[in-house]
Amino acid sequence: MTTFQPEISEALRARLTALCAEGWALWDRFDEEVRRHHFHPFVAAEYDVVVDALMPHRGPNLRFLEWGAATGVITVIADLLGFDAYGIELDRDLVATARALAKRFDSHARFAAGSFLPTGYEWRPPDRDGRTGTLGTGVSGYRELGHSLEEFDVVYGYPWDGEAELMLDVMKRYGGADATLLLNHASEGVVAYRRGKRLDGR
Ligand SMILES: C[S@@+](CC[C@H](N)C(=O)[O-])C[C@H]1O[C@@H](n2cnc3c(N)ncnc32)[C@H](O)[C@@H]1O
Repeated sequence: MTTFQPEISEALRARLTALCAEGWALWDRFDEEVRRHHFHPFVAAEYDVVVDALMPHRGPNLRFLEWGAATGVITVIADLLGFDAYGIELDRDLVATARALAKRFDSHARFAAGSFLPTGYEWRPPDRDGRTGTLGTGVSGYRELGHSLEEFDVVYGYPWDGEAELMLDVMKRYGGADATLLLNHASEGVVAYRRGKRLDGR
């Protein structure tokens, strides 16, 4: 049951509810057709939780980016909430799914097939090796989007265990100085960061 915040109009609430429901149907199909047969790093977030997490970060003319956009549900949510919304996803089949979803919801959300890691980025943690967990490699997607990472106001990622540090590092090195990074931590939900620090002060 979705319980979106009261300031959302009834019409928008209905669209978001339909979008989340379709997102879950896409996820069920993907789980059955792909993940049942082999490992794939796509795991869907709790979409209604992400809607509530995006709400306080809305504002005029803000550009949103989803790292690892999968079926595109969260990028389309961001578009419906008024962001200029973009997603980057490595798996081309998922990008096709995301574009079709955007079309069905009359959304202007745009998607690039490629990596959210900027060209030349290397993960060099001080205390261990630079393996990137489930994150894959590929041509950086920013050129196709027509915007560098620095040009985004709000960036969202759903890291697997151990990948949050890398995402914070990418943001620190390539993100805009005042940009907000929203990381969806499996253990505690969506946490907002700016300049590497949690906005909730914890
Ligand atoms: C945990 S899922 C997150 C899905 C979605 N963002 C959400 O929150 O529901 C991670 C996604 O990132 C994609 N991915 C992995 N490495 C990537 C990379 N370097 N660049 C872009 N996408 C990547 C995977 O294919 C997968 O769809």
